Amino acid sequence: MSKTVKDYIRTIVDFPHEGILFRDVTTLFADARGFRMAIDQLLNPYAGMRIDKVAGLEARGFILGGAVAHQLSTGFVPIRKKGKLPGRTIAQGYTLEYGEAVMEVHDDALLPGEKVLLVDDLLATGGTAEAGIRLIERLGGEVVGCAFVIDLPDLGGRRKLEAMGMEVHCLCAFEGH
Ligand code: PRP
Ligand code: MG
Repeated sequence: MSKTVKDYIRTIVDFPHEGILFRDVTTLFADARGFRMAIDQLLNPYAGMRIDKVAGLEARGFILGGAVAHQLSTGFVPIRKKGKLPGRTIAQGYTLEYGEAVMEVHDDALLPGEKVLLVDDLLATGGTAEAGIRLIERLGGEVVGCAFVIDLPDLGGRRKLEAMGMEVHCLCAFEGH
């Protein structure tokens, strides 16, 4: 049987700390067939829709989002961790497993009314994606979809984003975490 996107993802036991199964997409990115398959499947639901920009969440969302934007012939907007973007930014806090973090976007990255596809590698609690959505909406953009390679359904991110009215697209899921 031919390999699926999920088959290219490597699991590292006890990273970054004991008891965590880290879903490593570098093995997916490194394989020509796997990477192309992932990009094609990520954008498949949106082909033919109006998308003005793809927004990627640092860090792995840049790799995926850049390729998706190229394929859709749209611009790309990086949503970065605090302090990395050189221009004027707006900031949005979010909750991590331990503590808080802040994401930023340039305040001129979108025009009001632009339709945005949000891309990241993995959906866990949904906190990171929620921060991205809030930033896009605060700039007047409209999030038309949120696309991830991996869903960890036990952590509830999909439910959180769907409760915000988002359309969520994930290529595969890992039960447990
Ligand atoms: C990971 C992953 C997602 C986020 C998902 O990123 O790449 O961006 O966590 O978690 P959430 O749904 O619970 O918010 P991480 O924070 O490890 O940073 P990185 O991508 O820069 O490595
Ligand atoms: Mg990330």
